Amino acid sequence: MSSIHENKTYLVTGGTTGIGAATVAHLAEAGATIIATGRSPETLEAAKQVAPPNVEFIASDAGDLEAITALANHIQVAYGKIDGAFINAGIAPFAPLETWTETQFDNLFNINVKGPYFLAQKLVPLLNEGGALVFNTSVVHEVGMGNAAAYGGSKGALRSIVRSLSVELAELGIRVNAVAPGPISTPIYGKLGMDEAQLDGFASHMMSRVPLKRFGAGEDIARATAFLLSSDAAFINGEELAIDGGLINNVG
Ligand SMILES: NC(=O)c1ccc[n+]([C@@H]2O[C@H](COP(=O)([O-])OP(=O)(O)OC[C@H]3O[C@@H](n4cnc5c(N)ncnc54)[C@H](OP(=O)(O)O)[C@@H]3O)[C@@H](O)[C@H]2O)c1
Repeated sequence: MSSIHENKTYLVTGGTTGIGAATVAHLAEAGATIIATGRSPETLEAAKQVAPPNVEFIASDAGDLEAITALANHIQVAYGKIDGAFINAGIAPFAPLETWTETQFDNLFNINVKGPYFLAQKLVPLLNEGGALVFNTSVVHEVGMGNAAAYGGSKGALRSIVRSLSVELAELGIRVNAVAPGPISTPIYGKLGMDEAQLDGFASHMMSRVPLKRFGAGEDIARATAFLLSSDAAFINGEELAIDGGLINNVG
């Protein structure tokens, strides 16, 4: 059976692990050509080892404007136009207010907000008519969560960018949406800055809050992202789709 993604070309940032890797695998399996980025040489090399021929992994720092410009130039030269992008790369440092430094805050916002904004700017001329951008936000900016003020702030900013760009880019035939994951099992939990006991406590707390009583999988987000990138979602614009097992609807 032919797939809606056949003969399509997509960029996936942060495609080496977790949600991005699941999305790369899902779209590649559906017949799309994928350009995927990452930063760490180790995870990039591991991803390259298992990548099918229709996936190109390249090093590109999502928070560095020169790297973002070079990425767009590479796409233009090697692929010409593309059909969409999943702007997914992000970091999630959770820490109490009193411990944050200006450098940490700037680094978070460079990667989670400034980079995605300027990547969208560079990609617009490269998108085919009917192209789509999907940003990865989080349900965290919709709920209050201790130690997550800076991270939630970065994702709230991204959600606002999605809303305005969906209006601004509509006249070019480009749709802009977001996926907002709840807790998804990925390597990001090893990077939160928590020890094992804190992580266990965090995981049980999240499970108790999620009505479906489980963490999601990267594939849960991949399927929704693939839908939003595709012409099946041709009249969906400016939306943020929560994929969280019902977490943000649970006030009980
Ligand atoms: N997992 C969750 O529960 C959850 C919930 C809500 C939202 N999210 C969002 O989902 C996105 C993906 O997270 P994940 O859970 O899949 O975590 P992950 O496994 O840590 O994946 C993050 C990806 O982004 C890349 N990345 C991070 N910083 C980068 C940079 N400066 N330049 C280029 N690539 C960079 C990583 O590559 P390197 O290994 O090279 O750094 C990796 O490929 C993030 O935006 C996160 O905020 C996750």
